[in-house]
Amino acid sequence: MSGFLDARDIRREFQIGDRTLPVLRGIDLSVEPGDVVAIVGPSGAGKSTFLHILGLLDKPTSGSVLFKGTPYSDLSDGERARMRNSTFSFVFQFYHLLPELSALENAIMPIMIQSSILKWPMVRGDARRRAKSLLDRMGMGSRLHHVPGALSGGERQRVAIARALMTNPEVVFCDEPTGNLDTVTSQEIQDLLWSLAEERRTCFVMVTHEPSLARRAHRVVRMVDGLIVDGEAQQAIAQATAPPPAPGPADSPAGNPV
Ligand SMILES: Nc1ncnc2c1ncn2[C@@H]1O[C@H](COP(=O)(O)OP(=O)(O)OP(=O)(O)O)[C@@H](O)[C@H]1O
Ligand SMILES: [Mg+2]
Repeated sequence: MSGFLDARDIRREFQIGDRTLPVLRGIDLSVEPGDVVAIVGPSGAGKSTFLHILGLLDKPTSGSVLFKGTPYSDLSDGERARMRNSTFSFVFQFYHLLPELSALENAIMPIMIQSSILKWPMVRGDARRRAKSLLDRMGMGSRLHHVPGALSGGERQRVAIARALMTNPEVVFCDEPTGNLDTVTSQEIQDLLWSLAEERRTCFVMVTHEPSLARRAHRVVRMVDGLIVDGEAQQAIAQATAPPPAPGPADSPAGNPV
């Protein structure tokens, strides 16, 4: 237990007609401040479902998530919304940018959502400057006024990452952030995410199928069939399923001749 972000015995079932589908079957995970955690596992293992629960986009059927010691279940709807908009942020595989807004306007959006109508004129200038500087930092300085339709996949993902960082979130949840990109662009986005995580000491929890991204994480959590299979369990499974070793000289019962 870290006291920063703790998931305890998370279970999530979906009701499909008269059938109950258990998708998460008792997950515990502790994340420390500044951690970069990669969640890997086969398709359908429940990775996105778990990420959504950690990020307050979905509720578990049972179990609890605590952020800095406060269970999510104690939060009011307003507090949940504030955490989703300020404390946490999200980067998805398909960017989820607003198509009619420019790169700059998309990046500014979280600050606009945070501010009241009265406050917005006062924070607008600063928000634009911060968005410009983030987009610049991501090599998007010459694309500020392009709409998403006029940007490549990698450029759209850069805008989505800038948007995710605008509020200085404490945790960024990424669901396959490079899943829709070619290898070279994926590598560029990985480098970017990695340097941002290191620079800002922001916590990143990323679902990924990319071994190269997972390898760079501080910790890799493997999910299989709604459960976390930790290093020890993986080893135990590998040992239990491995063929018995052929007896070598060291195994020969030297002191016990037959
Ligand atoms: N709203 C829902 N209603 C019913 N079943 C759902 C719902 N959301 C997810 N599931 C089911 O839960 C299981 C896990 O889904 P999830 O999207 O979490 O998997 P995943 O590990 O992210 O897979 P992938 O790597 O393909 O993205 C799947 O069998 C999926 O069909
Ligand atoms: Mg998924």
